Amino acid sequence: MDETGLKTRHLLSIADLAPVEIESLINYAIELKSRGWLSLLRNKTLAILFEKPSLRTRVSFEVAIRQLGGEAIYLSPAEVALGKRESIPDVARVLSRYVDGIVLRTFAHHNLEVLAEYSAVPVINALSDFEHPCQALADLLTVYEKKGKLKGLTLAYIGDGNNVANSLMLACAMTGVNFNIASPDGYTVDKTILKKARGYAKDSGVKIICTEDPRLAAKGVDVIYTDTWTSMGQEAEAGVRRKAFADYQVNEKLLALTKKNSIIMHCLPAHHGEEVAEGILDTPRSVVFDQAENRMHAQKALLAKMLGKQ
Ligand code: CP
Ligand code: NVA
Repeated sequence: MDETGLKTRHLLSIADLAPVEIESLINYAIELKSRGWLSLLRNKTLAILFEKPSLRTRVSFEVAIRQLGGEAIYLSPAEVALGKRESIPDVARVLSRYVDGIVLRTFAHHNLEVLAEYSAVPVINALSDFEHPCQALADLLTVYEKKGKLKGLTLAYIGDGNNVANSLMLACAMTGVNFNIASPDGYTVDKTILKKARGYAKDSGVKIICTEDPRLAAKGVDVIYTDTWTSMGQEAEAGVRRKAFADYQVNEKLLALTKKNSIIMHCLPAHHGEEVAEGILDTPRSVVFDQAENRMHAQKALLAKMLGKQ
């Protein structure tokens, strides 16, 4: 079953891919868009194991697998109770006897590392508290389609330095996109991720700007991106976070500072009136539904390369 077309066996972090692999996955995703149903995953079965809710990730993975001729088995949190009903190493070793790949959405990123360590089949991170690499792939695909290039563009991320921000920062630094991030004190991006991203930025020649000022981050950018102020698992902090992020809304005022042809992105689900002003995602500059669709295309490319017949 070890027939990966990529250097990595598992995809836990976007940085498990080489920058050149990200670029080739983007091109491959664009190619697959026009090829419809295929049989690249024929006779392959994947387990989709989710500990958190999902609309996009679950559906886009299941449809991607089906459109490539494979089978998907969804396992809800209650069924497996990862680490509670059964230890993660045992879940990994049992699933490896049945399926050709495991897609896991979990809380602690460490759970993915343990699952990957004990799994005989590829493990894909479908979101952890630390990274959301499949989202970052779809994000870059969307930027590339909308702008016709990646290198030399500037993306501003406004809001929480969370899983989505971590993967996006790395992905941008790897592929030549300048990255500005504005977060309030106490909600900045992870330091180890920032250090890693700065390393990539040195190679790709991009700038990374971290600031508390959303206006500074948004000035003259090609892409403005935001995500929820309260991620899954942080619901108890919602009130405190709403206050901390009150000045970090993507609205017309902030948008006016960006380039005239800038686009608005959001991984979704969105909280209209919180991180995005009411109605702003319905304006022509918003590409969020193309972005959501691209989850499926990017994952098709990823699955075909990781698991498919080359
Ligand atoms: N963007 C994203 O991952 O959405 P879901 O949580 O609905 O999967
Ligand atoms: N940061 C969000 C992303 C949802 C797709 C969360 O983890 O809940």
